[in-house]
Amino acid sequence: MTPLPKFSVMEIDFDLLLECDGQIIILVPDDGEMGMIASFINKMMDGALGRFLNSEVFEKLSPGKVLSLSYPTGLMAKSVTVAKIDPNSSISETRNCGVEITKIATCEKILLVSDKFKRIADLVEGISMRNYEYLDQKTNTNPKPLDVGVMVHKIENQATEIDLKLAVVDGVFFTRDLINAPANVLTTTTFANQLSALSKLGITVEVLDELELEKLGMRTLLCVGQGSESPSKVVVMQWNGGGDEAPFAFVGKGVVFDTGGISLKPAGGMEDMTMDMGGAGVVAGAMKALALRKAKANVVGVVGLVENMPSGNAVRPGDVVKSMKGDTVEVINTDAEGRLVLADILWYTQERFNPTGMINLATLTGAIIVGLGHEMAGVFSNNDKLCKKFINAAMAEGEGAWRMPLAPAYDKLLKSRIADMKNVGSRAAGSITAGQFLQRFVKDDMPWVHLDIAGVASIATESAFSPKGATGWGVRALNRMIADHYEPREDTPGG
Ligand code: BES
Ligand code: MN
Ligand code: ZN
Repeated sequence: MTPLPKFSVMEIDFDLLLECDGQIIILVPDDGEMGMIASFINKMMDGALGRFLNSEVFEKLSPGKVLSLSYPTGLMAKSVTVAKIDPNSSISETRNCGVEITKIATCEKILLVSDKFKRIADLVEGISMRNYEYLDQKTNTNPKPLDVGVMVHKIENQATEIDLKLAVVDGVFFTRDLINAPANVLTTTTFANQLSALSKLGITVEVLDELELEKLGMRTLLCVGQGSESPSKVVVMQWNGGGDEAPFAFVGKGVVFDTGGISLKPAGGMEDMTMDMGGAGVVAGAMKALALRKAKANVVGVVGLVENMPSGNAVRPGDVVKSMKGDTVEVINTDAEGRLVLADILWYTQERFNPTGMINLATLTGAIIVGLGHEMAGVFSNNDKLCKKFINAAMAEGEGAWRMPLAPAYDKLLKSRIADMKNVGSRAAGSITAGQFLQRFVKDDMPWVHLDIAGVASIATESAFSPKGATGWGVRALNRMIADHYEPREDTPGG
């Protein structure tokens, strides 16, 4: 696993500034005014910092951007980097500035000094989110954590705030590691093992095997994995940090590799289907984040882990399978497998937990990429209130999410001649008919959101907060939604 950066908060210490042999990052407001620390550094540098802050170059530097002065006289540091950030910058501006800082971090030791800037935790979030590299499959690498000293005028609760952010970033890194892992490394079994290990954080983890799934009648889930050597599994993770109320539920598609099955995918780009367990990966990361920050809420995460392979045992186009709910499905296309997995685990989650609400995540359709590209996930919901809660949380975290429609007219496209439904519609509205299929396994009064994350789970180019590859999209939005709406507020006792 990519190590999280380490942060230590300290009060002003001029000797430390002089001795620092790493990179010094100094936060300077838009007007270039120097506070006590900047003035000291300027004095040591024989006025060079001041000349820069008075220059046109600084004036033209966009807010949130950084510029480095290398090997400054008077200091041991390799560089002094000015980050132009105003004390009243927004959370997202601050986070983005953190990302810029990480991009110029070339050595392991950083001293971040702040004269006036207060939003340290948001800056730390940006720094950590971008400080990720998937190295598990490279030999001769020994990733060392970034070591960041944070020098402030007065130590208040910065350390606690930083720890809270790092708990969530830890969850994000867990998700990214899972999504980036190749399918021969992350099999249904090793995935389940990694989830079982979350029990040391206080999460109750159960792994249901094929025999148990058969007994429960999960034939739509099981038919997806029946062509694979890897056994299908359902993993249930419970975090009980609340009272005795019913939990909120996260449900994730965990197809560790999607060849398409007998409806085989074309060869070009098939290797990307290692990320088809992205929904389950986000659920896992969100559960880890909640546990690490000891969230005062009850949340259950349910993931279906299967591999979609062609073989003599594989499910065929035209086969009819019976879901746990009891409805029969004609499998027209074995590549529309995610919805078959989700159908059974959505139903199972409702029957077992009767949750107060349910959000499922899945890399479900290529069509959502056609519609929304790689900036926004598709949001489908039967409940305006829950949908708003989620979209607002995603917006606050800078994670793109855009609502798409559901309607009975689309549902008609799933009519089958011989069974209760078929698993695909026509080419038109592919992401919506997938959502309609899922809705058939959601009870009418169950507040539910379906997130189609095919476009955002893993991206070929770098994104705002992550390098190329897995993004961890959704972990922070889910965490915030729980924090904002399902945990007691600290400022309103009893509320
Ligand atoms: N896992 C894919 C969807 C996907 C595509 C995820 C690209 C990430 C990137 C899903 O199982 C799938 O194959 N969907 C089909 C559905 C179709 C057969 C109705 C698709 O989108 O082509
Ligand atoms: Mn598929
Ligand atoms: Zn798939």
